[in-house]
Parts: sequence; C-alpha cells; structure tokens
Amino acid sequence: MDKVRTTFDEWAQNGRAELMEKEHGKNVAKFLEEISFEEPFSFLDVGCGNGWVVRKMSSHSKCTKSIGIDKSKKMIIQAKKNKTKSIEQYIHTDIESWKYRGKFDFVFSMESLYYAHSIDVALKKIYKLLKPGGMFFCGTDFYTDNKATAHWARMMNLNMHLHSKKEWKKIFKDAGFETKTKHIKDKDSRKKWKKEFGTLFLIGTKPKKESSN
Ligand SMILES: C[S@@+](CC[C@H](N)C(=O)[O-])C[C@H]1O[C@@H](n2cnc3c(N)ncnc32)[C@H](O)[C@@H]1O
Repeated sequence: MDKVRTTFDEWAQNGRAELMEKEHGKNVAKFLEEISFEEPFSFLDVGCGNGWVVRKMSSHSKCTKSIGIDKSKKMIIQAKKNKTKSIEQYIHTDIESWKYRGKFDFVFSMESLYYAHSIDVALKKIYKLLKPGGMFFCGTDFYTDNKATAHWARMMNLNMHLHSKKEWKKIFKDAGFETKTKHIKDKDSRKKWKKEFGTLFLIGTKPKKESSN
C-alpha cells in the first residue's frame, strides 16, 4: 500500500484539494506572473492535485498542451471533472514510472516532489521529459530553513524528504540542471512563515547542450 496515494485519495474527497488550491494559489500565481511565456509552449504539472495549475496554464494564449499527472486516482478524477479546455489532459500515474514519449518546454510541481520515494529518481525523469533549454519550476513550503513547516512530516505521518535550500540546489545541480532560486512571500498572510520565508521555488534549466562528463 502506498500511503502517499491513499492520503491524497482522501484529500481529493474531503475538500482539502480545494484548500490546497486556495493555500498555494496566491504564491504560485505571483511566481508564474514573473515568467515570460512569449513563445508557444507545452506544460506539465507533476502532482497536479485537482488540476488547478493545469487549467490556469491552459487558458494562456501561447499554451499548446497542458498535462497534469498525479499518483492519486481520486485527484485525477477530480481534475478531469474540472477540465476546461481540450488542450488539457490528466493522467493517473506517478512521475517515476510514467512512460511518455513527448518532451515539454516547462515542467511545474508544487508541494509534490518531496513525497517521491527518491527525489533523485523523480528529478532525473523530469530532466528527461524536458526539451533542451526547458525549465522546471519546483515550489516547496517544506524546507529546513522554514522551521515552521518542519513538523509537517510528523503531522502527515508520511515519509517526506526535508531539505535545506542549499541541499535542494545541490540535488538539482547533480541532476544536471542550471539552478536558480526564488522566495515568494505573502506579506498579507496571517502566517508568520509566509511573510518571512514564503514558498521556495527552484528554477532548474536543462542546458541547451549537455556536457559530456
Ligand atoms: C500536497 S499535494 C499538492 C497538489 C497540487 N500541486 C497543489 O498545489 O494543490 C501533493 C500531490 O502530489 C501527488 N504526488 C506525490 N508524489 C507523487 C509522485 N511521485 N508522482 C506523481 N504525483 C505525486 C499527490 O498524490 C498529491 O496529489
């Protein structure tokens, strides 16, 4: 039994998928607003939950394909119910075992990657799914520097990988990405950590030419 899957199957049915959309929505929107999507692009959301980011991106005039994958079948059922555009697609799979032939301009993931059995394996797969020059945007509120969230793994009773910003950068670098980071804070939030630390975004770019070593 996969506890991550069963936990999020429950969340898909008890209103917490919508709560995540509300909790994460503001910072994600703020982050995405700063990215320029000037050329036609394809988009993948890893751990898409109820599909709110997939829908948001599919309404972008330059978006040609917006796919969401999630290992929770119930999340994917919700996402399919909420589908708004024909360029959206929702697939029930984990990132690690997903067999997909295409490549994406952008891969996105919010509060999902640290649930993977192995972040390294998941990240390698994401790297493979990107076109050369493609970018991976990975948002996390759960990181060591943000001490207020450290108890989440205990609270969830799940195996969640807790890393510092420095460690995340190294993990991305080891997977082959050129990496930048950005903190998106919410100064109006009632939560102190949202004002002081906020969401850590790792921005990994797959080099146009991969090094031979
Ligand atoms: C905390 S929720 C975040 C959902 C959504 N990104 C959001 O912000 O509302 C994490 C999601 O990632 C999914 N997930 C966790 N590990 C995964 C994996 N290895 N492959 C695909 N989905 C995964 C879970 O099923 C869950 O729906």
